[in-house]
Amino acid sequence: MADPFRVAVLASGSGSNLQALLDQCRPPAAAVVLVVSNNPDAGALGRAARAGVATHVLADPADGDALLTVLRDCRADLVVLAGYLKLVPAAVVAAFAGRMINIHPALLPSFGGKGMYGLKVHRAVLASGATVSGPTVHVVTAEYDRGPILAQWPVPVHAGDTPESLRDRVLAAEHRVLPAVVLAAAAAGQVVRLTARAGAFGAADALSTLQNDLNRSTTPEP
Ligand code: GRF
Repeated sequence: MADPFRVAVLASGSGSNLQALLDQCRPPAAAVVLVVSNNPDAGALGRAARAGVATHVLADPADGDALLTVLRDCRADLVVLAGYLKLVPAAVVAAFAGRMINIHPALLPSFGGKGMYGLKVHRAVLASGATVSGPTVHVVTAEYDRGPILAQWPVPVHAGDTPESLRDRVLAAEHRVLPAVVLAAAAAGQVVRLTARAGAFGAADALSTLQNDLNRSTTPEP
C-alpha cells in the first residue's frame, strides 16, 4: 500500500482544527505525523499525544533552521498552520513553497493581515455589517494572509451575533473545510483549489491556475 500523505501541523492554541485533521485525515490517505508548537501549554500538544502523534515544542519560533530540521526529519509533504500565532521564518516558507497552508476565520482578502487573529477578526466582521463570513484556507506566502486561496466556506452572520457566537459558527465550518483541503491535496499529491457547491466541495481547479497565482503573490512584507 502507498505511504500516506504526511502532514505536519503547527498550532499555538486549543487545537480544535488539529483535532478535525486527526479525526478526518487518516491512513491510508493521509496521516498527521508531527505537531509543532511554540507554546508548551497548547491544548494541541495534548490532542496530539492522545492520538499517538509526535510533538515538538520550539525553543525559539524565530529559529528557522530548527523548524526546518524538524519538518524535514518528519518528511512532511504538507505543513498546516492551524491556529499558529507566530511568524513562520521566511526560509521555512520558502523551503515549503506551495506546500504550506493556513486557515483563517474570515473570508480573505477581507479581515486579514497582521494582527488580525482570534476574536479581533470576528469583531471586525460584525462592525463592518457583513452578512456573510466563513473560513478561508490559503497557501502561505511571505505576505500575511495573502497567498492563493484554496477554499472558502460561507457562514451566515446572524442579527444579534456576538464575536463569540460568530466564532463558534465559523469554527464548525473550519473543521469541515480544512480536512477537505488536506484530503484533496493528499489525493492529488499537491495542493488544489476547492470550490464550495451546495454545501459540498466540488472539482478542483487546474494546478496551473494556482501556480500562476502563487507566482504573483510572493511579494515580501516590508
Ligand atoms: C482558528 O479560528 C483558525 O482559523 C485560526 O486560529 C484558530 C485556531 O483554533 N487561525 P483552534 O486552536 O484550531 O481551535
